[in-house]
Amino acid sequence: MLIIPGTSSKELGKKIADLLKAKLIEIEHKNFPDGESYIRLKERIGRDDVIIVQTLYPQNNSLIELFFLLDLVRELGTGKVTLVIPYFAYARQHRRYLEFEVISAKTIAKIIDFFNVEKVIVIDVHDKAALKFFRAKTVNLTTSLTIANYYKNKLKNPFVLIPDQERKEFGKNIAKVLGCDYTWLKKYRDRITGKIKTKIWKDFDLKEREVLIADDIISTGETVMNAIEILKKKNAKSIFVACVHYIPSKAYEKIIKAGAKEIIATNSIQSEISKLDVAPLIAKELSKEKF
Ligand code: R5P
Repeated sequence: MLIIPGTSSKELGKKIADLLKAKLIEIEHKNFPDGESYIRLKERIGRDDVIIVQTLYPQNNSLIELFFLLDLVRELGTGKVTLVIPYFAYARQHRRYLEFEVISAKTIAKIIDFFNVEKVIVIDVHDKAALKFFRAKTVNLTTSLTIANYYKNKLKNPFVLIPDQERKEFGKNIAKVLGCDYTWLKKYRDRITGKIKTKIWKDFDLKEREVLIADDIISTGETVMNAIEILKKKNAKSIFVACVHYIPSKAYEKIIKAGAKEIIATNSIQSEISKLDVAPLIAKELSKEKF
């Protein structure tokens, strides 16, 4: 089994290879002065099965590099190709909200399928509907246990809050490990302006409770900050924030300034707040495969 990490998952790919005791194939990468990408495998790969690991951040560059890599390994006559995409970008657009919109998740799935990929493994995809476009087998791993284990015994009188109704299951799983209750907020997005509004759908009491806000993605930080505002009005004792995919930005500082004690994320996208390692989760899934 060969592991080929793309440019966006160099560190993570190496960790996975170490855990699986698999051979790591490094790539040489550079950008031309005009921004175009160049990729070359540092060694021959033969006909072995390969696992490509490439998270989709920065979204567009990592995508084009992924397509280059897929084409390259196929052209070199490799065996089975398994693809690990820790952060599957563009999954928000898995359907048409306004007429004539592109369904970007579908476009990406179609291109990946073109290269006869055997299996696609993702982590906490924004919406599972984005995976239905693949012909390849897909696996959606969840980090709810990873997040819950990090906070187990760390919070006094905990409470879990999910800042939007679409991730109830995620909240339920975390709350179960923490042995507490949970709820979610209702989030509405204006499809034209992109502005969001967050509301409580059922009242809750937070006296003396340490609250964990958990979400799949933090991008601008707006969703989490809306939730923090609500929690402060409810007199939460302290607020902690965890997300799976943190899109590197200034959101981290804004969220701390808004009143969170801590903000953590996984290393699906490597950043200054990547405290949780997804390599063991991915390695466990890959070890089920027969290569
Ligand atoms: C959206 O529905 C996701 O679950 C996240 O809540 C969202 O992507 C976060 O984005 P932002 O940080 O820009 O509010």
